[in-house]
Amino acid sequence: MSQSQAFTQFTAKFPAYAQTAAIDELRTNEYGRLEREGQIYLDYTGGGLHADSQIHAHLKMLTERTLGNPHSNNPTSLAMTKLVESARSYVLSYFNASPDEYIAVFTPNASGALRVVGEAYRFCEGSQYALTFDNHNSVNGIREFAKAKGAQVHYIPVVAPELRLDMEATVEQLESGDRSKNNLFIFPAQSNFSGVQHSLGLIEMAHECGWDVLLDCAAFAPTNRCNIGRLKPDFAAFSFYKMFGFPTGLGCLLMRRDKLHKLTRPWFAGGTIQIASVQGNGHYLHTNEAAFEDGTVDYLNIPAIETGLRHIESIGMHLIHERVVCLTGWLLDTLTQLRHANGRPLVRVFGPTNTVARGGTVTVILLDKNGRVIDDQRVEELANHANISLRTGCFCNPGAGEVAHELTSREMVTFFETGKPVSFSELRMAMLEQFEKSVSAIRVSVGLVTNFADVYQCAMFMRGFLDKTTEEIGPAKFPSDHLLRDSA
Ligand SMILES: Cc1ncc(COP(=O)(O)O)c(C=O)c1O
Repeated sequence: MSQSQAFTQFTAKFPAYAQTAAIDELRTNEYGRLEREGQIYLDYTGGGLHADSQIHAHLKMLTERTLGNPHSNNPTSLAMTKLVESARSYVLSYFNASPDEYIAVFTPNASGALRVVGEAYRFCEGSQYALTFDNHNSVNGIREFAKAKGAQVHYIPVVAPELRLDMEATVEQLESGDRSKNNLFIFPAQSNFSGVQHSLGLIEMAHECGWDVLLDCAAFAPTNRCNIGRLKPDFAAFSFYKMFGFPTGLGCLLMRRDKLHKLTRPWFAGGTIQIASVQGNGHYLHTNEAAFEDGTVDYLNIPAIETGLRHIESIGMHLIHERVVCLTGWLLDTLTQLRHANGRPLVRVFGPTNTVARGGTVTVILLDKNGRVIDDQRVEELANHANISLRTGCFCNPGAGEVAHELTSREMVTFFETGKPVSFSELRMAMLEQFEKSVSAIRVSVGLVTNFADVYQCAMFMRGFLDKTTEEIGPAKFPSDHLLRDSA
């Protein structure tokens, strides 16, 4: 079917797409580099794209203003402080978080936000740290802080094929917390592996059971409204480049003021203290966001956050969301219908195959006509030839991957028993050889300025694998370890 015939069918099935035409215009005016370079960008879960106007606005500020390190009383410093604090207020208001209730801490990225909470949370003997299987590694890593302070770590399973939470296990876990201790629960509002959007009602449920909740919004915020003031998580983590592409070195942590006492910073640094003394051997931390921002913040880039948020607001999150739902729906329908001549499916989706409670992240493996898994690296290599940016690997989300690929704890433990480090490519090879299992997949993700042509080209690319065997498709030529990092 030609692209124009497919588009007619698409708009008949997803009529709401027509209401998002303003984004096509925006794409032409502001993201023209996609067309100029012939890029089919489908890695929005990895990173968002910036509009030209964001860069122009930033360049204007940099070239017109003389700005110094903030938090001093000289004119250039005062000017910078004003811009930084304006961006901070804007972040709070964008997420509908009242400054009376929340503080916004600038961090290098979402991982930085997660780390601030992880290392400072007052875990103790008898505390629990509960997290869902499908968390990003930057959430998994918090278990090291928890264990070091004597807390128990509990993973709540997700269930294949949709990779949604096992609700019975969730309720059981949350009800098991000892209310006299500090208990922390973290889950992603949207999984960066499966696109699953977990119920945000879990926040209230966890609160009722006496847990503190950190909501990881990194993959959710780019295409969904994040009403933090209404949801009331104790902590929420974001990466701004995922929302609007630029700047790449900034994220934020929203923290409820009434939960700051649950954190004890393990150190102090420049910027975080009111006073410190060498001879007095003491220090007093600030009592606001400054206590959590180590050293000099990325001040020249922080104003670009406000620009980015204003950009999103000028488009309208409802429009972005609607468009992503339509394109994801079409992609899922089309990919799941692809069948080899012998009737076998080409695509297996790891996650929901419809648009209910899911975002625009579609993770799949391709199967050849004999039902054998096609090497994802080979798929990526061939996608590269077509200028399609998709992502392969485990996406820093080993738990969801282990459930999706049916990897068992017995199998996984073998790689950690000896303590001898194993690289991702070694793990990949060993799992194939020892257990005939794959550990990686292919992720296609749509976002802010994806258009129908992008998803159509992607579906046509995948169609090209129909009726072929893995031998005919051949091995990947580029399996080098630097490309195989367990990345975002
Ligand atoms: C759900 C989720 N959490 C956390 C992160 C970490 O974000 P960053 O790499 O920007 O720190 C990511 C990145 O992909 C993510 O998708």
